[in-house]
Amino acid sequence: MDRKVKVGIIGLGFMGTTHFSIYKSNPKAEIVAIADVNPDKLKGDISSVIGNIGGGDNSKPLDLNGIKTYRDGMDLINDPEVELVDICVPLYLHKKYATAALEINKNVLCEKPLAANSSEAMEILHASEKSKGFIMTGMCIRFWPEYRHAYELINSGKAGKVISATLKRLSPNIDGNSWKNWFMKSSLSGGAIYDLHLHDTDAIRYFFGMPESVTSFGVKGVRSDSGIDHVMTRYNFGKNSLITAEGGWDAAKGTPFEMSFQIVCEKMTIRLSESGYKVIHENGKIEEPKPAIPELPTGWHVEIDYMLDCVKNGVKPEKYTTLRETVDSIKMVEAEMKSIETDSTVKL
Ligand SMILES: NC(=O)c1ccc[n+]([C@@H]2O[C@H](COP(=O)([O-])OP(=O)(O)OC[C@H]3O[C@@H](n4cnc5c(N)ncnc54)[C@H](O)[C@@H]3O)[C@@H](O)[C@H]2O)c1
Repeated sequence: MDRKVKVGIIGLGFMGTTHFSIYKSNPKAEIVAIADVNPDKLKGDISSVIGNIGGGDNSKPLDLNGIKTYRDGMDLINDPEVELVDICVPLYLHKKYATAALEINKNVLCEKPLAANSSEAMEILHASEKSKGFIMTGMCIRFWPEYRHAYELINSGKAGKVISATLKRLSPNIDGNSWKNWFMKSSLSGGAIYDLHLHDTDAIRYFFGMPESVTSFGVKGVRSDSGIDHVMTRYNFGKNSLITAEGGWDAAKGTPFEMSFQIVCEKMTIRLSESGYKVIHENGKIEEPKPAIPELPTGWHVEIDYMLDCVKNGVKPEKYTTLRETVDSIKMVEAEMKSIETDSTVKL
C-alpha cells in the first residue's frame, strides 16, 4: 500500500469542511490534525457552516476519530506529523500561516486569494523561494473539469482564434454566512471583487495571458460595509477582442449561484450555463462533453488530488498554477479596483 500524505487543515468553515470530506475520500491522504478557534468545530459540530456550491450535509458531525485538534493554527503547523498544511481560514490570516509553514519547510495548500494584496502575495512567494516546502494557491477554477476542457480546446488550437469571451460568477447575498461575518468586512475579505470575482480574473489570466489594461464598473457597499459587491470588467487585449467578466454577491438571498462562461471562437462556441456544458460547432453540431471523472467530480477534488501527488512524489506543484501567476491575477484585480475608483481605464 502506498504511503498516505499526512494533512493538517486550519479553519473548518465552508472551504475547510469541503476539503475535509475530499481528503477523507482520497486514498492518498490521511487527515492527522485540524485547527480552529471555534471549540464546536473541534468537536466536529459543523452545523453553522454555509457555502455557495457543493455543500454537504452539515447537520452530521465530522468524524474526528484519530485526528488531533488544536485551537491555534501555529500548533498544527509545528506538529511534526503534519506534512501538508491546508490553509482555509479567512484571507487576512493567510500570510501569517503560509509563511510560518514555509519557514519550517512544510508543504502548503493555501486557499485563494492567497494574500490580502499583491505585496503580501510577493512576501509569500519570496518565503517559498527559500523553503524546501511546496506551496500552491487553491485556484480551483483552473482545475474545474469544464474550464480545463475549454482551456485545452483553445490552447490546442482546435477551437480556432478567440473572438469574444464572457465569464460570470453571480452569488446571492452572503451576509451572515461566514465566521464573524468576515466576508462583509471589506478590510478583511477585499469584497466580492477580490474574494469571488478573482476566480474569473485568474481564469482570464490563465486562458489569455496578461491584458494591456482593464476597464471596470462596479457598485460598492450595498451588501458589504464598503467593498465592491458587483463588478463588470473588460480586459483589453488589443483591438477587436472582447474579453469580459462579471462577478457579484449582491443578488437577493435565495437567488441561485451562477458560475458560467461563453467563449466564442472561430470554429466553435464553448459554453457552460444552467443548461450544462456544450461545445457548439460552426456547422451547428452540438456536443455535450462530460469532462468530470466520477472519482474527482469537481475542481476542488482535482486540485487536492494533484497537490497530494506532488507532495508524495516531490514534484513542485506548478502544472496548473504558479504563485507568480497568482500575483498577476491579484494585480489585475487591484487594477480593476483602481479603474472603478478613478472611473478610467487602468494599464497593467
Ligand atoms: N476555492 C473556493 O471555491 C472557495 C470557496 C469559498 C471560500 N474560499 C476561501 O476559503 C477561505 C475560507 O473561507 P470560508 O468560506 O471557509 O470561511 P468561513 O467563514 O466559512 O470559515 C472560516 C473558518 O476559519 C476559522 N477561523 C477563524 N480564525 C481562525 C484562526 N485564527 N485559526 C483557526 N481557525 C480560524 C473559523 O472558526 C471558521 O471555521 C477564504 O480564503 C475564502 O476566500 C474558497
